[in-house]
Amino acid sequence: MNLSIPQVAGVKGIRSVPGDKSISHRALMISAIADGKSEISCCSRAADPMSTLSCIRQLGLNVEETGQRIVIHGKGRHGLQPSSIPLDAGNSGTTIRLLSGILAGQRFPSIIIGDSSLSKRPMKRIFDPLRLMGADISGTEKNTAPVRIEPVDRLHSIQYALPVPSAQVKSSVLFAGLFAEGTTSVLEKTQTRDHTERMLGLETKKENGSFSVSVNRDIKIEGKHFFVPGDISAAAFFLAAGMITPGSNLTINNVGLNPTRRRVLDIFLSMGGKIEIENKRIVEGEPVGDLVVMTSEIKSDLKLHGAEVVDLIDEIPILAVTALFAKGTFTIHDAKELRMKETDRISAIVKNLRLLSCDVEEYDDGFSFEGGGEYSGNILPSYGDHRIAMSFGIAGLRIKNITIQDTECVDISFPGFWNVLLTQS
Ligand code: S3P
Repeated sequence: MNLSIPQVAGVKGIRSVPGDKSISHRALMISAIADGKSEISCCSRAADPMSTLSCIRQLGLNVEETGQRIVIHGKGRHGLQPSSIPLDAGNSGTTIRLLSGILAGQRFPSIIIGDSSLSKRPMKRIFDPLRLMGADISGTEKNTAPVRIEPVDRLHSIQYALPVPSAQVKSSVLFAGLFAEGTTSVLEKTQTRDHTERMLGLETKKENGSFSVSVNRDIKIEGKHFFVPGDISAAAFFLAAGMITPGSNLTINNVGLNPTRRRVLDIFLSMGGKIEIENKRIVEGEPVGDLVVMTSEIKSDLKLHGAEVVDLIDEIPILAVTALFAKGTFTIHDAKELRMKETDRISAIVKNLRLLSCDVEEYDDGFSFEGGGEYSGNILPSYGDHRIAMSFGIAGLRIKNITIQDTECVDISFPGFWNVLLTQS
C-alpha cells in the first residue's frame, strides 16, 4: 500500500509504543528454556517477535495468550521438541541468530528459514563462534539462511572477542553457553545492548578497555514474570515528530531507557530537543520513564562515529530525517553495519534524501549532508524496511507531497504505526 502523508498541526496527547522488540524476543526465548511457568506483560505483538513466538510453539511449547499477557509453560533447557517443519524466522535477524544459539545445544536437528530479505543477511558471524564451541551449524554457500543445525554430543566453552559489535552475536553465544561445558565469555570493545545479560542475571565486567560477560550451564533459569518496557527505537519516531512539527506537545509513556539504548534520546537533547523525562523508575532491572516532547528549534552539527554509532544503530534513519530540519552538517561514519540490516540502510537513506532534493554525500560507512534546507516531496520507496518507511513518513509531516510505498512493512516492529501517528495528531 502507498500512503500520502498529510501535514499535521503538531502531534499531541499521549501515545504508547509497542513493547521493546529486543526484550520481547529474549523474554520469549528465555521463558521457553526456563523451568516452569513465565508470564510476559506488554510483549511486542509485532511481526518480528511473533516469528519468535511461532518458532517456540513449533518447538513444542505450550503458550497462552490473553490480552496484554503471554504465558509460557517452560520446559527447561532440554525440554524443547524437534519441529516437524522448518522454523520460520520471517524477517527477523534476532530470531534466527539468537535461536540458533539455543538450538545448537539441543539433541535434535533443526532448520531455520527466513524471508527473502533475511535470507540475504550474513550468518557467518554466528556460525564462526558456534562452530568454535563444537556446534554443527551451516547455511548456504554464501553463509546465509536456511540455517541447518545438527545435534552434537557436547558443546564446549569459548572466550570470544566479537569481531563486529553485535548484540545478536553476543546473545547467540551466551545462549549456546547455557548448554556448554565450562565457562563461556564474550568480549566486546563497545558494549552493545545488554538485555540478555540483565535477563539472565549475568554481570558485565570492564577489563583492559573491553566489556566481558560470562555464562555457564549451571546458571538456573526459573520461570518468572517479565515486564517489557516500550521500545525506545519506536518512541524515537514520535520524539522526532514532536520536535519537528510546530504546535506539538506529546507524551510517550513507559519507554525503556536502558543506557545501551538511550543514546538517541541524548543526541536529540544535544540537538536542542525539548524533551523531558518524567516518572523515572526501574522495572525488573530495566530503567523506564515517560517522555514528554515539544516543538523544538533544533540544530545539528553532528559528526557521529565509533561507539556512539553502535548505540544508535537502529535509530540512524530517523536521526537522519530529524537532521533534515536542523541547521548544520550531519555526518556519520563507522556505520557499515547499516548495510547489513533489513535492507542496505545507508543506500536507502541516501537515495530517499536525494529524492527529497537534499544534497547528500555517500561513504562506504556512512553519509553527510547539510540540514535546514528547502526540500520537495516525492514518492519514496520503503525498500520493504520498517525503519525506512517510518522515518520518511515522519519527514512527510513537514515536507509536502511525500508518499511512502509499501507501508505495510511497519508491521515488522510497529503494527498500527500509521494510525497512531496520523489519527491522533
Ligand atoms: C538487536 C541487535 C541489533 C539491532 C537489532 C536488534 C538485538 O542488531 O540492529 O534490531 O535484539 O540484539 P546487531 O546485533 O546485528 O547489531
